[in-house]
Amino acid sequence: MAALPINTKVVVLLVLGTSMVVFTIPAGKADDGLKQTIMSVYLHDHSSGSPDSTVRAVVGFPGKLWNLTKFGTLFVSDDPVTEGPDPESAPVGRGQGIFVTRSLDGVNTHVSLSIVFTNEACNGSTIQVQGNSDQMKAVREYGVVSGTVIDCTLDIRIPSRENVPPDAFIYVTLVDGFIRDGDLHEAKELFDIMIGEGMDPGVVGYNAMIKGFCKFRKMKEALLCVTRMIKAHLTPDQFTYSTIIDGYIQQHDIGGALRMFKHMVKRKCNPNVVTYTSLINGFCRNGDLSTAEKAFKEMQSCGLEPNVVTYTIPTGSFCKKGKLAKAVFYFESMLSIKCIPNEVTFNYIVNGFTNSPGAVLDNQCLEKSSFS
Ligand SMILES: *[C@@H]1O[C@H](CO)[C@@H](O)[C@H](O)[C@H]1NC(C)=O
Ligand SMILES: *[C@@H]1O[C@H](CO)[C@@H](O)[C@H](O)[C@H]1NC(C)=O
Repeated sequence: MAALPINTKVVVLLVLGTSMVVFTIPAGKADDGLKQTIMSVYLHDHSSGSPDSTVRAVVGFPGKLWNLTKFGTLFVSDDPVTEGPDPESAPVGRGQGIFVTRSLDGVNTHVSLSIVFTNEACNGSTIQVQGNSDQMKAVREYGVVSGTVIDCTLDIRIPSRENVPPDAFIYVTLVDGFIRDGDLHEAKELFDIMIGEGMDPGVVGYNAMIKGFCKFRKMKEALLCVTRMIKAHLTPDQFTYSTIIDGYIQQHDIGGALRMFKHMVKRKCNPNVVTYTSLINGFCRNGDLSTAEKAFKEMQSCGLEPNVVTYTIPTGSFCKKGKLAKAVFYFESMLSIKCIPNEVTFNYIVNGFTNSPGAVLDNQCLEKSSFS
């Protein structure tokens, strides 16, 4: 076990419940054998108050509202921390901490958060983040006050080249934040400045920009960005391709999505659950449920386990078509692998049955469900 060097810095960008956390742990003096580590992880902080919230108010002044902008409210969190911005991306650990709003005007909150790693590379290691959170700011900086390293190779996958200046990561964090906030123009400007200044956005940076273009239905720009990325000797990854495939699906362009899928496979980049889920969604939207089913089977035969979204898509589509037996098949398959249906799944099923008066027999399946 070793202590991490102090005087490190964390930049946290809080947008819509997901925070990108960039750690910059600077190099120590040449003779102390320390080296610089930069890592970015994503903290998914759900504070809706629903049962799946990962941050909860546990105490506050009696008779007063307990929330993040009320003096004296104490929160506890246990947030998933993942490798990428997608909550379905590989988990790397948990963000467990306490937050206390400690300025009378409710602006400042004290944050004391441990990132507890559970991934293979850093299992058991921790990073302790502490400091003031000015809640009015989109980007907040905290100190990394300490940490513990257990057999940590610190080979946390930084999907870009080594020696990327930390500045680039801060830029990428901001680009990502603007896109989440819906400001493509600002994101693009920042991205161009970054490249203009000779900084390397890395695969993560390009992916953030590509995601932005797709979100705003600018597929041409998204593809140009991929070309730019390849010219910069970076290799598009699963996230790049999945983003573009989903971009086409959102525009009802199944042909475009399939072209990209073929291209992805040709470039020996394996489709993942997100890729297949987008494709299945595309086929279902197109009313081509038999191809959607084929894609579903193909995905399973590749050893990829469908998630709640993947199951809910065909469940919903078959319900809408009144093909309840099929819908129930997907619903039951979901339960059989202990994948917990969400509100959307239940809505589809309930509406499906409500709209089909002859469906009494199949109702037994819902009664069997431990979730109903
Ligand atoms: C806290 O409560 C105030 C007053 O009701 C509300 O305006 C604000 O949005 C709440 N903040 C959070 C983070 O829930
Ligand atoms: C992390 O360590 C725990 C206990 O030491 C072990 O149970 C778990 O399987 C490990 N996880 C990984 C991904 O290696």
